[in-house]
Amino acid sequence: MDKFVINGGAPLKGEVAISGSKNSSLPILAATLLTPERCVIRGVPDLSDTRFMVEIIKHIGAEAEFKDGVVTVEARKIRTIAPYDLVRKMRASVCLLGPLLGRRRKAKVSVPGGCIIGPRPIDIHLKGFRALGADVRIEKGYVIADGKNMAGGTMFLGGRFGSTVLGTANVMMAAAVTKGTTVIESAACEPEVVDLAQFLVKMGAQIHGAGSPTVTIHGVEHLHGAEHTVIPDRIEAGTFMTAAAVTGGHVTLKGARPDHLGAVIDKLLEAGVKVERAGPDMVVRGEGRREPADVITMPYPGFPTDMQAQFMTLMTITPGISVITEKIYPERFMHVAELGRLGANIALEGSSAIVKGMPKLSGAPIMASDLRASAALVLAGLVAHGQTTVNRVYHIDRGYERIDEKLRALGARIERQK
Ligand code: EPU
Repeated sequence: MDKFVINGGAPLKGEVAISGSKNSSLPILAATLLTPERCVIRGVPDLSDTRFMVEIIKHIGAEAEFKDGVVTVEARKIRTIAPYDLVRKMRASVCLLGPLLGRRRKAKVSVPGGCIIGPRPIDIHLKGFRALGADVRIEKGYVIADGKNMAGGTMFLGGRFGSTVLGTANVMMAAAVTKGTTVIESAACEPEVVDLAQFLVKMGAQIHGAGSPTVTIHGVEHLHGAEHTVIPDRIEAGTFMTAAAVTGGHVTLKGARPDHLGAVIDKLLEAGVKVERAGPDMVVRGEGRREPADVITMPYPGFPTDMQAQFMTLMTITPGISVITEKIYPERFMHVAELGRLGANIALEGSSAIVKGMPKLSGAPIMASDLRASAALVLAGLVAHGQTTVNRVYHIDRGYERIDEKLRALGARIERQK
């Protein structure tokens, strides 16, 4: 198992290129199963999660190749079963349900198990498939869906914690090839949903309103092959912006989409970080006085839950008190105890973290738990005095392409050790 050894204190300086979005790539790769024709997906980040999705697609029966950020898929014949051993390794495998049901009118996909960031049910996905007219049941740990009577329908996909990103994606994929009209109300508005819709439209789907809470899909008979480039990863961009802020650095982000980062930029500005657009690039300057900022995570366009942990690291060294409230995954606070090992002062109060900014953090061995929590710990290591060792970095390799190399190129003293 790899670990990162970080010697903190170096302000990040220079340029960093933002990779393609993990959370766009995963459902888009699944969507290639909707057609027997060749699809070419560009800008796919080289991560353990995206490699794994390519392996799953192959397991389902497609021919697929992943080379230099380009995934080519030809799914002439596909199976309809995704077994437990595949799904337990990556929760996002649940987004195979939509394409299998759409293309083959049946699917048997293992129910994803527990997740370190809290309960992650799929009830709303299943509600959506039922509203399309599918017969859906859970048996022996599998979702078994029979779509022979699917005819489209109107559904409300909102839940206690807002809408569902992969649930919206799943229903869009199945509905794209289901005769009749489907209307998704309270659809997720995340840019990754829009990206998937754009890919499906290139394949011949008729989808309107993606990016708004009401998405209308007029089902077509068949989808054809298509080429697509995934959007830049807004969470990777937000993480590097926060890294610049935490270290008091000066970083230019190449290829990010500021229009996808409104809530993150707004909170960084509130915290005293300077963020400017420079043509297609974004410049972040973290030197100078910082102010505490309260954050509440929300569905897009609100502040993303996937940036909560990283922003908390920034607040641990910002004078004053900030309150960070998690509304999407109320238990997503694994980073709190590890940040505490570095000297951060954070009290948990239900689904809120009350952070009292300290003058400094001090390096120590810490343990990565999930993807975004691990990113927060790396950021903390970059600013902590002395040496921080972040163990179990395979979590971070799931979602950040070569993060250690990118940080090193910005002047960070970070080494990967086996
Ligand atoms: N929810 C339900 N029932 C459902 C589905 C979701 O109650 O059937 C709840 C969830 O428990 C959660 C909320 O609804 O409280 C939102 O969950 P959502 O379904 O939107 O999450 P997801 O689609 O499974 C994606 C990202 C996550 C990201 C969330 C929220 C992918 C592969 N994953 O998950 O990304 O946190 O949306 O934005 O797209 C990450 O990249 O680190 C990550 C966890």
